[in-house]
Amino acid sequence: MCGIVGFIGAEEAAPILLDGLSRLEYRGYDSAGVAVYGEGCGLQVVKAKGRLKVLEELTQNGRALHGAAGVGHTRWATHGEPSDVNSHPQVSADGRFAVVHNGIIENYVEIKEFLQSKGVEFVSQTDTEVVAQLLEYYYKGGLLEAVGKTLERLRGAYALGILCADHPDMLIAVRQDSPLIVGRGEGFQMLASDVTAVIKYTREVSYLDDGEIAILTRDGVEVMDRYHQRVDKPVSHVDWEISAAEKGGYEHFMAKEIMEQPQAVRKTISTRIREGRVVMEGMEFSPAYLRDMDKLYIIACGSSYHVGMVAKYVLEKLLRKPVEVTLASEFRYCDPIVTKNTLALVISQSGETIDTLAAMREAKRLGARVLAIVNVVGSTIAREADGVLYTWAGPEIAVATTKAYSTQLAVVYLLGLSFAQTMGTVSEEEGAALAEALLALPGKLEEVLERRQDVQYFASLCFNHPSIFFIGRNLDYAVGLEGSLKLKEISYIHSEAYAAGELKHGTISLIEPGTLVVALASYSPLFEKLMSNVVEVKSRGARVLGLTTADLAEEMGKTADYVIAVPRTHPLLQPSLDVVPLQLFAYYVALQRGCDIDKPRNLAKSVTVE
Ligand code: AGP
Repeated sequence: MCGIVGFIGAEEAAPILLDGLSRLEYRGYDSAGVAVYGEGCGLQVVKAKGRLKVLEELTQNGRALHGAAGVGHTRWATHGEPSDVNSHPQVSADGRFAVVHNGIIENYVEIKEFLQSKGVEFVSQTDTEVVAQLLEYYYKGGLLEAVGKTLERLRGAYALGILCADHPDMLIAVRQDSPLIVGRGEGFQMLASDVTAVIKYTREVSYLDDGEIAILTRDGVEVMDRYHQRVDKPVSHVDWEISAAEKGGYEHFMAKEIMEQPQAVRKTISTRIREGRVVMEGMEFSPAYLRDMDKLYIIACGSSYHVGMVAKYVLEKLLRKPVEVTLASEFRYCDPIVTKNTLALVISQSGETIDTLAAMREAKRLGARVLAIVNVVGSTIAREADGVLYTWAGPEIAVATTKAYSTQLAVVYLLGLSFAQTMGTVSEEEGAALAEALLALPGKLEEVLERRQDVQYFASLCFNHPSIFFIGRNLDYAVGLEGSLKLKEISYIHSEAYAAGELKHGTISLIEPGTLVVALASYSPLFEKLMSNVVEVKSRGARVLGLTTADLAEEMGKTADYVIAVPRTHPLLQPSLDVVPLQLFAYYVALQRGCDIDKPRNLAKSVTVE
């Protein structure tokens, strides 16, 4: 959701804040703003509806604002439409406090009514304005006292950056259920929603925990817990290069990230397989634990949930244990059946998705052991899980996930193989064959990407379809869910993914002459069954784009209008290859339609509100 950044040091803050915001814009991009304090200039606030470039123009890339302390914000609207007045920073009526916020203040109505009864006039529809106005209400000269009293009244999720005109030598950062880090430099300090905003300036960061308040001055950072006790925060070194979060010559981050998949999957897999066996860092599951495990509960949202859908088929086949996949947003409220023998597998690229985080906490509370598959090192889910398996995808910037999906899938395979080898549910030979196929995956992904022009050609034929169906069975169905999400997310074409056998139970009524159906038929045991469904839609006039393995392409071509072929791999791994043409299809369709591919409308990369 929203991105926040803050800087305090000796240099002009505004250009640094704008640079930080440009790296956080993927979190939300309907408006942006900065507040900077400078001697003789006071508190200068500029904010505007629209992309960051509007703010850059208004401030001459920050040169129009003077001062060495400031906060900035890029917004994904929750309360109040995107507009200049609803943009952050929100400022108190006396102009003393500027506040940037990511999250939701759940009791803002009650606080607003309280302040209005005291004569405070509100100018925006945001929940955040209550924070600025409460600070003013409680301020009697002591900044920390006012912050303490304000926080006592807030309920909900918030990461806050606070600048006070009376105390321009400090910035206050507060974290409660929304991510926030502090970047530590020589003679300057920063706060930000994630490390991408600070890495150009410092690689030394501290991850704030819930309830913590950080006081940033030019020379250092002091962190206190909710009881105002000093906390010694460890400092972590970020070791990835800033170029990993730049476009590197590609037109879009999504294109770059699609092309990075072979290397990302290689990095995720190669160090974890030795002599045909899986070696997972920091993960100990004894044969007895796995034998007694009553259920594997997979919890995730969006594309990570779709990885979970593939995982269900794969893990049930390999382990012969029940696997339940649930949307994180549903898990918390469905009275889940969890015992101490339940293993909760939480999947999240960002490690900050609030629904997934809340569900994970609930699973823990109910007694489950929690293993997380996460991409962002140091993220909240990674820190709170009992064990974490990192996907080594590197920073993923495009809102539509691609390489994170692929590396999550790779970790699922590794996990399945590791458990199966520990439990003895696969023979030595079967295990070795799967390990070998896993090691060969990056090379096969390269082969798929080499044929991307084929997909581009099909996209040029199909980009005007008003509605597109994806059908498949078993693993193909699970991949179809992701293909359909990718397409609607970035091209805005209506799309549905269906288990092919289910179509005739209702949805086939939507198939009419010319409807485009993408038929996935890589899962060879069900190829013929799937082809029967293809014939059914063809009989009703559908145009069919088939996706299958090279050995079945000719057969499929007898019925489908077009066929895209991918190399064959181990049947359980086939989703890793099949998803790539679907990502490319969505990308090229969106490109043809002139969509804003990296920043699709209404979306944000990291979903930190419920
Ligand atoms: C996929 O392209 C989306 N951007 C979205 O569905 C995403 O996978 C979902 O919000 C979950 O995010 P997470 O993996 O960071 O938890």
